[in-house]
Amino acid sequence: MEKKKLAIIGCGGIGRYHLDHFLQMQDIQIAGVCDILEDRAQAFAEEAHCPAFVHYQEMYDAVRPDMVFICIPPYCHGAVEFETIRRRIPMFVEKPVGLEPALFLEIRDKVREAGLITASGLQLRYESNIARLKEFAAQHRIVEMNLCRVGGIPDTPWWKTRALSGGQLVEQTIHQVDMARNIMGEPETVCSMGSHDIIKGVEGFDVEDLSVTLVRFRSGALGTITTGCYAANGAAADNKLTFGAADARADYYMFDKVAVYGAGGGEETQRDEVVKGDGRMLQLDQAAVYRPEGDCGMLCDRTFIEAVMTGDGSKIRSPYEDAVKSVLFTLACNESMETGQPVKVDIDA
Ligand SMILES: NC(=O)c1ccc[n+]([C@@H]2O[C@H](COP(=O)([O-])OP(=O)(O)OC[C@H]3O[C@@H](n4cnc5c(N)ncnc54)[C@H](O)[C@@H]3O)[C@@H](O)[C@H]2O)c1
Repeated sequence: MEKKKLAIIGCGGIGRYHLDHFLQMQDIQIAGVCDILEDRAQAFAEEAHCPAFVHYQEMYDAVRPDMVFICIPPYCHGAVEFETIRRRIPMFVEKPVGLEPALFLEIRDKVREAGLITASGLQLRYESNIARLKEFAAQHRIVEMNLCRVGGIPDTPWWKTRALSGGQLVEQTIHQVDMARNIMGEPETVCSMGSHDIIKGVEGFDVEDLSVTLVRFRSGALGTITTGCYAANGAAADNKLTFGAADARADYYMFDKVAVYGAGGGEETQRDEVVKGDGRMLQLDQAAVYRPEGDCGMLCDRTFIEAVMTGDGSKIRSPYEDAVKSVLFTLACNESMETGQPVKVDIDA
């Protein structure tokens, strides 16, 4: 059987991550790579032994790919997707799928009309521990969620400019926000505050260096989202979600572990000090700790590729249509920061 032909548009940081995956796959052909910066496309082409292009339309005409990975920055979406849909090429679009709802909702509608197989780069959906969290959510009523992602400023030049990246919540913490949706269900209202007071002297930096959001989910649960890029050299970095129920708690640490407290099993840990009627001060508890298995990024790519090979997109966990909702969630937080008002999240726009 002839190998399916795969193309890449955008040969930067995340393009490289996907290319490394494709180079390990024997059953696909990397048919062409494209970047408006010719040297970037050339570098990929040498490794992949395929032609390099500066214009994606020329690549489409020349190699007629069966699928494409669109790995361009948040502010560059639009024309590429419309042309890809017009040619009915299944597309994997990196997150966030855009910054302008009018644009990405139109793309979503055209995807629907065309019945195209799509996927997005929200690879945490494929982490093996997600199944543990789903199980936890099914067995306990989660009343509270705390999400925290704190790090430094990524070195892609467009990242620090709000109009180009959307800011940290939209560009980066969207991974965790998407996980919040995946486990908690959809949000109803957000109320966010942002800071611009911590990072000084970085040219062109106009995104929030810290933001804190309150969320009310449709389930009635309340949550917080704290995200910042103020941690110099990663010194104060943090990345976790906590899901609290009256009878148990689950903590998720990205790529590291899920720890479930109060549900039995695991190692004994000293959890907290509580003053009880009988004078006991110390509460001991047991955490069952689960480490992730496999490479969720590879699985994310592979699931899309196999969907194109078989024509069955049902195993894709974050198609374009769903990825749009996570952008709408984060953009609602931005709107709240700008207006100083709570914002209803129009997730079914
Ligand atoms: N899934 C993840 O975990 C993950 C990780 C990092 C980045 N990303 C996302 O991937 C996207 C790209 O990020 P990056 O770090 O690779 O950025 P980057 O700047 O390193 O690379 C983007 C490349 O796209 C090229 N480009 C822009 N418009 C183009 C066009 N019309 N045709 C061809 N090439 C074009 C640029 O020249 C650049 O080389 C962002 O949306 C980012 O949020 C996802």
